[in-house]
Amino acid sequence: MVQLPSAPTQNAVNLRGNYAHAAADYSVAQDYPHYTDDDHDIWRTLFTRQLPLMEKYGAPEVMAGIEVLGASADRIPEFAAVNEALLGLTGWRIVAVPGLIPEQHFYAHLAGKRFPVSVWMRNRSELDYLQEPDLFHDFFGHVPLLTNPTFARFMQAYGEAGPKADSHQAIKMLARLYWYTVEFGLIQTPAGLRAFGAGILSSKGETVFSVDSPAPNRLGFDLVRVMRTDYLIDDFQKTYFVLDSFDQLFHAGYDTDFAPLYERYAHEPAYSPDQVLLTDKVITKGTQHR
Ligand SMILES: [Fe+2]
Repeated sequence: MVQLPSAPTQNAVNLRGNYAHAAADYSVAQDYPHYTDDDHDIWRTLFTRQLPLMEKYGAPEVMAGIEVLGASADRIPEFAAVNEALLGLTGWRIVAVPGLIPEQHFYAHLAGKRFPVSVWMRNRSELDYLQEPDLFHDFFGHVPLLTNPTFARFMQAYGEAGPKADSHQAIKMLARLYWYTVEFGLIQTPAGLRAFGAGILSSKGETVFSVDSPAPNRLGFDLVRVMRTDYLIDDFQKTYFVLDSFDQLFHAGYDTDFAPLYERYAHEPAYSPDQVLLTDKVITKGTQHR
């Protein structure tokens, strides 16, 4: 699963979802009866093959979140029912959206503790690869960790950081932080390295690759390093950044004044996706062969 962290364009006509009935904040009704048997069956296929991998490769907080939200292979989750559980845990809710939304709306939703989840399911021919986030990516990949108070507070802080990044013409730097953590982050756990990023967790191949493969670099998380590093949107990552804890992520996002970073680095060339620096905390130096 590969997709952009937020809308790449104001022009919705190229996107797959139906934006015709979206509200001003791009929310739509989930329209649950609209899902076909095939939609539920594709959900079941994806959920059933991904869940067992969570035991070995997923951060324990992900599995805990799936369980407490009551998500199962049986059928596509009903957002209203999920929200009843989620609101009580962290004050977050999910909102249905047609697909990718413009970034200022995306940031506003996160700042308001609302996570946008695409309403549509991919086709059966797209089990392994999809360019836009669908319901399975958004829900299975992102929503379980919103039950974790520390991670949820980071997500809110991230949303709040959006307008400032925009005013410094540094959205790209902020997007890299999202990409290398929320989408493709790894974390140290007592049981070893585990994945928590949604782009990993919603991809069978990358779930195994990110943790087990000798190919990619795995580097200790460093906020500025991450925000200065380009990423790949159409292949498995060449570098994964590894958190010590979700506390580390929260404090990096919440305690940092980003403005001086934007001023210093926003117009500098970025590090390439496979680069390893002398200053990096190298956990694995990847072969980059696969
Ligand atoms: Fe995502």
